[in-house]
Amino acid sequence: MAIRGIDQLDVAGKTVLVRSDLNVPLEYVGDAGTITDDGRIVASVPTIKALLDRGAKVVVLAHLGRPKGAPEAKYSLAPAAVRLGELLGQPVTLATDVSGESARTVVGSLIDGQIAMLENVRFDARETSKVEAERAELAGEWAALGDVYVSDGFGVVHRAQASVTDLAKALPHAAGLLVEAEARVFSKVLSNPDRPYVVILGGSKVSDKLGVVENLLKSVDRLLVGGGMAYTFLAAQGHTVGKSLLEQDMIETVKSLVADAQARGVEVVIPVDTVIADDFAPDANTRIVPSDSIPDDWQGLDIGPETRALFASKIADAKTVVWNGPMGVFEMAAFAGGTRAVAEAMTNIDAMTVIGGGDSAAAVRLLGIDEAGFSHISTGGGASLEFLEGKTLPGLAVLEDN
Ligand code: 3PG
Repeated sequence: MAIRGIDQLDVAGKTVLVRSDLNVPLEYVGDAGTITDDGRIVASVPTIKALLDRGAKVVVLAHLGRPKGAPEAKYSLAPAAVRLGELLGQPVTLATDVSGESARTVVGSLIDGQIAMLENVRFDARETSKVEAERAELAGEWAALGDVYVSDGFGVVHRAQASVTDLAKALPHAAGLLVEAEARVFSKVLSNPDRPYVVILGGSKVSDKLGVVENLLKSVDRLLVGGGMAYTFLAAQGHTVGKSLLEQDMIETVKSLVADAQARGVEVVIPVDTVIADDFAPDANTRIVPSDSIPDDWQGLDIGPETRALFASKIADAKTVVWNGPMGVFEMAAFAGGTRAVAEAMTNIDAMTVIGGGDSAAAVRLLGIDEAGFSHISTGGGASLEFLEGKTLPGLAVLEDN
């Protein structure tokens, strides 16, 4: 069954509960956090704004971090409420609790076109409870506050949690614009990608991406591997990798993945050269060496210039590119070149270009690369990976049941 969108909901004069993913990175001085990347908050604005413009009273539900089911000052949504208010150009009142007296008072005093936010839903242990009845009880408390539920937190649709799945069961519901857009893009790249179809994977661990690699090998034409995980691919070819990141226990698995790729006619491209450093530090001494010549005491922290050119050439004629995971330690300028090169190569082509969220999306913003140069930058981390693994996402499945 098709998932209903917000255009199919009657929201004027209604109280609409919107689940957004406002789980943004913060830098702390004591318990006071400053947002370092507001991408997810920016991405949550169009749905909220559309609802407000149509005369809804909007109540945002969201989580921040992983508090242990009780309030903790450093996980307060206060910075997110302030930032959302700035982006909307109107104040966002933050309740001091999740579903209690403050939530009821704040929601009860909204007038049409106004917005409030409840405190971090994970301050209540029932949000993440494994017991369905506990989650349903919390969802029932929220349902009593509103008329309609809109699921717009794509980053959490892989979680079966009270504000994601149980609340959808308790109220008439629809997918927000962000969830709709993300689901459309990922469904397209999974089921019907235009070819050549190139996937670029990076990040530190092969084990984190195993399910993705296994699933994507069924459909991609080329798989480019960089980042920390590339060293396990190099080791699987019999090379030594010095002090680089290595998952020894994944070497055999990688060998069989590569064999599977070969059998399927998928080209697997791994780094031919590497930026190595004598320390994991921004001011470490660095050298560029062929990937099969990493000295024992050195570690690879980025793909080298030849690899950047090679990857760019493998991307150049692509019609679909999906990228997940940085090519190096992009947070340090000396090791950001590979990640930048891949991002730029993607912006130079006429193709559907998708950034699969998490660190690669953060890298694009941190490196100041024009976000408009990509077809889609996902707000999902784990959610995009699970989508690419071909898993059923509970927060999407529940929306199909109208
Ligand atoms: C994320 O950061 O990927 C989402 O906000 C989900 O957060 P979680 O992994 O703590 O559930």
